[in-house]
Amino acid sequence: MLSCFISIFLLCILASINEVRFENLLRFGRCTFSNNTTNTSSSISNEQQQQEQDIRILIGILTLPDQYLRRHFLRLVYGTQNPEGAKIDVKFVFCNLTKEDQKTIISLEIMRYNDIIILNCTENMNKGKTSTFFTSLPDIFNETENGPNYPPYHYVMKADDDTYVRLNSLVKSLKPLPKEDLYYGFVIPCSSMDPFKHYMSGMGFLVSWDIVEWIHGSDIPKKHVEGPEDKVFGDWMRWGRRGLNRFNAKWSMYNYPDPVSVCSHELVNDTIAVHLLKNQEKWIKTLNFFNHAGPLEESKMYHIA
Ligand SMILES: *[C@@H]1O[C@H](CO)[C@@H](O)[C@H](O)[C@H]1NC(C)=O
Ligand SMILES: *[C@@H]1O[C@H](CO)[C@@H](O)[C@H](O)[C@H]1NC(C)=O
Ligand SMILES: *[C@@H]1O[C@H](CO)[C@@H](O)[C@H](O)[C@H]1NC(C)=O
Ligand SMILES: *[C@@H]1O[C@H](CO)[C@@H](O)[C@H](O)[C@H]1NC(C)=O
Ligand SMILES: *[C@@H]1O[C@H](CO)[C@@H](O)[C@H](O)[C@H]1NC(C)=O
Ligand SMILES: *[C@@H]1O[C@H](CO)[C@@H](O)[C@H](O)[C@H]1NC(C)=O
Ligand SMILES: *[C@@H]1O[C@H](CO)[C@@H](O)[C@H](O)[C@H]1NC(C)=O
Repeated sequence: MLSCFISIFLLCILASINEVRFENLLRFGRCTFSNNTTNTSSSISNEQQQQEQDIRILIGILTLPDQYLRRHFLRLVYGTQNPEGAKIDVKFVFCNLTKEDQKTIISLEIMRYNDIIILNCTENMNKGKTSTFFTSLPDIFNETENGPNYPPYHYVMKADDDTYVRLNSLVKSLKPLPKEDLYYGFVIPCSSMDPFKHYMSGMGFLVSWDIVEWIHGSDIPKKHVEGPEDKVFGDWMRWGRRGLNRFNAKWSMYNYPDPVSVCSHELVNDTIAVHLLKNQEKWIKTLNFFNHAGPLEESKMYHIA
């Protein structure tokens, strides 16, 4: 009986902040009119509560339409991570398709994975693709303000397709940080530890949703589009006096140790992202270092020595 009352109470809270679902009503009824004190209903509402507390993150990986194999590989890399306390959507971002073949194959990818965002732009390196990405987001994920699913994402990260992001470490590092006006990443120049002076590297930087909306609405990004995307982004933050909460994730984010540079670092346990994974060998060494690929459950179907 007690757990019944507790779950009724929880449901009431839920109902007041969420739309009342038919399912909830059913459970409510089952509880009220039976003396069966199993904890199924309360564990389900716990689950719902958990989902509401989860941090929602969008990771947009900027890549090119023809990079089919890279996407296949990255889907494995991100699909095999289960971050705790977060819901993370990884999407591949590119501009208008230009070839007939792309239309067919990418349509299949969308049917199968639904993880592709095609922006209204022509592929370019330093002419505003990142800008278009951020500007387009509030139209793509247009949740009503104060609605139950607002903001659609608490944070949006832009990442390169040669960056390995360790989702659990990312989530852990975000937990204590402000959910608003946040600008997070690897400070440039590489030798600097001061996040307020310059900008965050394009290997992977993250902002809170209020900044995404500001970019969408402000004139500053519209006037200043051309140039290295990460530097341009930093200029917007400075000119708009945004991102007053800054977090320098150095040296949890770094370039792969080979070649050695001021931006590189040895692989270390406490890692959020490794950048410049330019070939398979570097990916394999990195995945192995973090024991990403195992151990597998035993099975008669395979043997991997
Ligand atoms: C409550 O459950 C007991 C057995 O678990 C049963 O004997 C009793 O009739 C039930 N009461 C109601 C109101 O369903
Ligand atoms: C209570 O309900 C559960 C399923 O919801 C059922 O498995 C269990 O047998 C029921 N117990 C009683 C005493 O009715
Ligand atoms: C209560 O729920 C937990 C996990 O949801 C489960 O492990 C446990 O067996 C349940 N207890 C009862 C009495 O149903
Ligand atoms: C796409 O961009 C072009 C110019 O860059 C513009 O003319 C057109 O209206 C845009 N289309 C949509 C659907 O926004
Ligand atoms: C991209 O494609 C859309 C629809 O196919 C078209 O309306 C738009 O003008 C194109 N944008 C650019 C920048 O080429
Ligand atoms: C979101 O976009 C859809 C489709 O364009 C539109 O029907 C809906 O009204 C929009 N919602 C909000 C809150 O703007
Ligand atoms: C890294 O983590 C592994 C496994 O948790 C541990 O065995 C190893 O000692 C750690 N290395 C360092 C340098 O902390």
